[in-house]
Amino acid sequence: MASVRTENLKKIFKKSKSEVHAVDGITLTIPDGQAFGVLGPSGHGKTTFLRLVAGLEVPTDGNIYFDDDLVSAPGRIVVEPEHRGIAMVFQLWALYPNMTVYDNIAFPLRNAGVPKSEVDKRVREIAEELGLTRVLDHYPREISGGQMQRTAIARALVKNPRVLLLDEPFSNLDAAMRDGARALVRRIQRERKLTTIIVSHDPADIFSIAEVAGVIINGKLVQVAPPTEIYDKPANETVAKLGGDINVIDVKVSDGIIYISNSVKLPSPIPKLEGKFRLGIRPEDLMLSDSTDAPGMTLVGRFKVKVSSYVAGIFRTLVSPTDDDSIEILVNTNGYVEPGSEKNLLVRLPKVKVFSEKGESLTLARS
Ligand SMILES: Nc1ncnc2c1ncn2[C@@H]1O[C@H](COP(=O)(O)OP(=O)(O)OP(=O)(O)O)[C@@H](O)[C@H]1O
Ligand SMILES: [Mg+2]
Repeated sequence: MASVRTENLKKIFKKSKSEVHAVDGITLTIPDGQAFGVLGPSGHGKTTFLRLVAGLEVPTDGNIYFDDDLVSAPGRIVVEPEHRGIAMVFQLWALYPNMTVYDNIAFPLRNAGVPKSEVDKRVREIAEELGLTRVLDHYPREISGGQMQRTAIARALVKNPRVLLLDEPFSNLDAAMRDGARALVRRIQRERKLTTIIVSHDPADIFSIAEVAGVIINGKLVQVAPPTEIYDKPANETVAKLGGDINVIDVKVSDGIIYISNSVKLPSPIPKLEGKFRLGIRPEDLMLSDSTDAPGMTLVGRFKVKVSSYVAGIFRTLVSPTDDDSIEILVNTNGYVEPGSEKNLLVRLPKVKVFSEKGESLTLARS
């Protein structure tokens, strides 16, 4: 295993008329054995970062080290990808269609000149670990999507890499299979203490596997923290939205009171706030009730129910203040709530995020 360190890493793609700063000065240390997740919107440099680490892209500027070894430097690859001890699993698993599962997994070992008996032993071991023993003589077209994905992972792991690089590895799986695949990767990563970088725009991938996550926006690392902290204390509004569903509401604050509408208000979680701000409230930090209080919750005001729908195991209910129909807030509810009915909205105040008009988190600065 190895630690991975980047110093002011940059990649600029030059086109005839424009340049794209795909990776824009990333300095980061991923300790040996850590599962590191990279979260970010589409087109913001996640894959480019991973390809730089792999040695498949030449940095425009900056250095990359595996342990203390310089592997990439400005304008040059110092250690070729095949000598870095890396394994990659991409979104498209790219199995060889004319090879059996066995031969697909054996391919990197045979390529490296590993003796036949050793190849056989290692292929069978990893196939057993990943539940592929029964399909070793099948061709990719004869196995399920989940089995294809496990074959791609087996092919990556059979080399005993020092660093595992995963680029959106689950996006081709249907939702039901994704949880199992995430659990599998997590288990193997933890058991082997395998330095792993997983890149995804789906927070569920990052939250289920990564011990530490970095958020890349416009090629820049804007926050590095444990996934729960990224979720709870996002550095800005964009990070908050990447982490999961969140209501973002324009508000006015005066004398320590946040006004959502004229009648709907809550005490400011930050002292001495005055002026215009944006509130971030996750649907699970809100509650609809006939009562005006609940343990740990603060009353916001009277709301009218617009729609209540069942999504992925929970009810999502959309409500508006009774005096302002233009404001809409999404609330997680235990069951279906009749549209047209009026309820009290309660909030878990310490979880409310306050952003400046530019979207920077003020809650973070306070803590
Ligand atoms: N070979 C290339 N030539 C020119 N521009 C490129 C090249 N590769 C990537 N880019 C540009 O660099 C930026 C970052 O791309 P990248 O693939 O790293 O994004 P990403 O975060 O992985 O996106 P996604 O989530 O959609 O996979 C994009 O604007 C992309 O168009
Ligand atoms: Mg990508």
